[in-house]
Amino acid sequence: MQNKTYTGQPVVTLNNGVDIPALGFGVWQMENLNECESAVIKAIQTGYRMIDTAAIYQNETAVGQAVKDSGISRDELFITSKVWVQDHGYEQTKKAFQKTLERLQMEYLDMYLIHWPYGDFLGSWKALEELYNEGKIKAIGVCNFTVEKLEELKANSTVPPVINQIELHPVFQQKELQGYNKENNIITQPWSPLGNGNADLLNNAQLKSIAEKYNKTVAQVILRWHLQEGFVVIPKSVTPSRIEENFNVFDFELGDEEMNIVRSLDTGKRLFFDPKDPEWEEKMLKVVADI
Ligand SMILES: NC(=O)c1ccc[n+]([C@@H]2O[C@H](COP(=O)([O-])OP(=O)(O)OC[C@H]3O[C@@H](n4cnc5c(N)ncnc54)[C@H](OP(=O)(O)O)[C@@H]3O)[C@@H](O)[C@H]2O)c1
Repeated sequence: MQNKTYTGQPVVTLNNGVDIPALGFGVWQMENLNECESAVIKAIQTGYRMIDTAAIYQNETAVGQAVKDSGISRDELFITSKVWVQDHGYEQTKKAFQKTLERLQMEYLDMYLIHWPYGDFLGSWKALEELYNEGKIKAIGVCNFTVEKLEELKANSTVPPVINQIELHPVFQQKELQGYNKENNIITQPWSPLGNGNADLLNNAQLKSIAEKYNKTVAQVILRWHLQEGFVVIPKSVTPSRIEENFNVFDFELGDEEMNIVRSLDTGKRLFFDPKDPEWEEKMLKVVADI
């Protein structure tokens, strides 16, 4: 299999041999389709080559349009989307995947992920495995899987996930899950890598002093830390200057001591939803969106 070329930026090789750009662009919480389209075009012009969307974000059409208008060819881009909980199960997931392709105006996906490990996610995985074997998806993975859910998946699958996309930022690092992912050749992909723009995190005094040393911002130091940990990271922004700032992280390197300072900021407290919370699971299983 021929890998795509992503000039001028680091890549991470997934467990099936596919390269993914180490830094991509997230599109959750876009205000509307226009905002999403403009932000994705700006990101691609800046140099980002990996875009992370999901059916539930309801902006796949804008991502697809932005890719068309960007002037960069589809085979230079890595496009990820995710199947939502309401479409879990073998048949439903196959249909949901087709709709995702139509909205994106694409023939294939570089990566397709199970968004949450609820309902009949094993049926969904079977659909993903088939689509992967048919070449319609280049890599398949999961989000928000705990060790227990990854074990359940392992016992009931033939293709292992390439990625586990989980909440992870300096104040919530999930070291045990990171370790499990690593032992099982699954790349950790942090979501909300900047803590969703959390003000306390972005004003942290220790991070500020590291940032000053390199003439960088705190956001850039955090993104650099993610990259040096070996993660594949997907910051989101609709602000053109921040879209550029977040991509401008390949020209400096944190030392061991600085990496340890960031590691020491872990509080073990999530900012968002706990996949193990039964109330959250119940709530998610009831969400039916117009997608
Ligand atoms: N699989 C899942 O369950 C899941 C869950 C959540 C997220 N995700 C994915 O992960 C991506 C990233 O996570 P996220 O969107 O929650 O959060 P994030 O990237 O950690 O942070 C985004 C927020 O930080 C602000 N920001 C961005 N760059 C900044 C900078 N350089 N300085 C100061 N503020 C900055 C943004 O503001 P502006 O936009 O106003 O500039 C926005 O409010 C999502 O877009 C999505 O693709 C996946």
